[in-house]
Amino acid sequence: MAATTEKLLELLNMDLELEYSAAIQYINHAAVMTGAAYGDIIKELKIHANEEVAHAMILAEQIDYLGGSPSVRVGKIQTAIDNDQMLQQDLDGENDAIKRYKARVEQSEELKEFALAQQLRNILATEQEHAMDLMQALGK
Ligand SMILES: [Fe+2]
Ligand SMILES: [Fe+2]
Repeated sequence: MAATTEKLLELLNMDLELEYSAAIQYINHAAVMTGAAYGDIIKELKIHANEEVAHAMILAEQIDYLGGSPSVRVGKIQTAIDNDQMLQQDLDGENDAIKRYKARVEQSEELKEFALAQQLRNILATEQEHAMDLMQALGK
């Protein structure tokens, strides 16, 4: 699918835009979520926001290193009134990220970009942790 560096750069830029939107979405959800029962997950959402920013930084650096120009666009952001609906939106985003980064690890290894693949594996591991936090909060 990403047989060329050019195509891979395009996909990494999409990932970057979705990291920016994930960070904004987490900041929004952490701010508007209410209720004592949600105290723990609200703290987690704030941690996630910072981790998504860290992912964006890694991706922007890797894109630049590979000769691309890192996007400054922001992907789709979702919010809701209901706490669990927001957590589900966050979980959907994480599951999408997990799917994308699994593909991206394979695609970067195909192109023998092993350092990039290693960075993407680390990001993938964090997204899985995020998904687990959200599933736990949703009682899944
Ligand atoms: Fe991320
Ligand atoms: Fe995440």
